[in-house]
Amino acid sequence: METVVSGIRSTGKLHLGNYYGAIHNFVKMQEKYNCYFFIADLHSLTTHPHPDNLHQNVKDILVEYLAAGLDPEKCTLYVQSDVPQIAELYLFLNMNAYLGELERSASFKDKVRMHPENVNAGLLTYPVLMAGDILIHKATKVPVGKDQEQHLEMTRTFSNRFNRIYNVDYFPEAYAFSFSDKLVKVPGLDGNGKMGKSNGGANAIYLSDTPEIIRKKVMRAVTDGGPSEENSSKPEPIQNLFQLISLVSSKDTYDYFNHLYNTCQIRYGDLKKQLAEDMIIATTPLREKIIDIASDKDYLHKVARMGADKARESADRTIKDVKEIIGFRQI
Ligand code: TYM
Repeated sequence: METVVSGIRSTGKLHLGNYYGAIHNFVKMQEKYNCYFFIADLHSLTTHPHPDNLHQNVKDILVEYLAAGLDPEKCTLYVQSDVPQIAELYLFLNMNAYLGELERSASFKDKVRMHPENVNAGLLTYPVLMAGDILIHKATKVPVGKDQEQHLEMTRTFSNRFNRIYNVDYFPEAYAFSFSDKLVKVPGLDGNGKMGKSNGGANAIYLSDTPEIIRKKVMRAVTDGGPSEENSSKPEPIQNLFQLISLVSSKDTYDYFNHLYNTCQIRYGDLKKQLAEDMIIATTPLREKIIDIASDKDYLHKVARMGADKARESADRTIKDVKEIIGFRQI
C-alpha cells in the first residue's frame, strides 16, 4: 500500500484554503492509503511564536483535523515535534542541500521580501525539513495545495541525491497529490493571490468563523464596477469570487451568476450574499464539531499520544536504515 504524508503549519487556525487545498484530500485518502498526517509545529518556529501561542495553535489544529473528519483509527495523526527522528533526518539531509538551490525557492524569496528583518536559517532550510517529514515515512504521495508544488520538487531533488551519493535505492520519489485533476489554489478575499493568514485574517474564511464574521468578511471582499461589455473576461478579484462560488455553491448557483455577469446584469452584493450563505452552510458542521471536540481534553491527549507512538515506530525504522547507509555504525 502506498504511503501518504502531509502536514499543516501550526501558525493559526485553519482556513478554507487549507481545507480545500489539503484536508479535503486527507479525509478521502485515509480510506485507502497508509496515511501520516501531522501538525508542523517545528516549521512554525521560523516565526518565533510565544510558547503559549505555539501550544494553543497545535491544539487548535488537532481539534480542527478531527472536526474535519480525520480518524485516528484510520490514519496516524501526530505532532511533528513528538517525532525527534524527523529533526535527525533533517540534519542529515541539510548536509547535501545547497545554498543556491535553497535561496532560489519561491517561498523563501517571498518570506525575504515580506519579512526582511527575520531571514533566519530555519526559513532557508524550510524545504529540507519538509523533505524530512516526507522521507521519514518513505511516502510517495503528498496531498497539498498548489503553493507547495515546488517544495515537492525539492524533496525529490534531496531524496534522489541521497540515493545517488550512497549508491542505494532507498528513498522513493514523492509527488504532490490531489483527487481533482490539478492542485488547488483557493483565492483570498482581498482581490489578489491565495487565501492565507495575511491581512489580519480578513483575506481568509476560517473553519471556526461564525456566520456573522463570514458575512462581514465576504461583504467586504474586493470587487470592481462590473462588466461593461457582454461576455468579457473577469478581472482577478471577480474571478476569485467565482472560484470560491465553484468550491462552496452548487453548479446552478455558479451558472446563474455567471450568466448575470456575461449579460452585464450582475449585482455583486447579491453574489456576495449567496457566497456568504453557502460558506456558512459548508463551515457550520465543522464549527460545531470544533467546539465539541475542543472540550474533550482526555480524548485529545489520547489521540496525540497514540499518533506519536505510531509515527515514531515508522520513523525509527527509517532513521536506523539511514544511519546504517550513511555509515553511523556501532563500535
Ligand atoms: P501551510 O500550513 O501553509 O498550508 C497547509 C496546506 O494547506 C494548503 N493551502 C492551500 N491550498 C490551496 N489554496 C490555498 N489558498 C492554500 N493555503 C494553504 C497548502 O498547500 C498545504 O497543503 N510547508 C507546509 C506544511 C508542511 C508539509 C510538510 C506539507 C510541513 N511539512 C510535509 C506536506 C508535507 C505549509 O506551510 O503549509
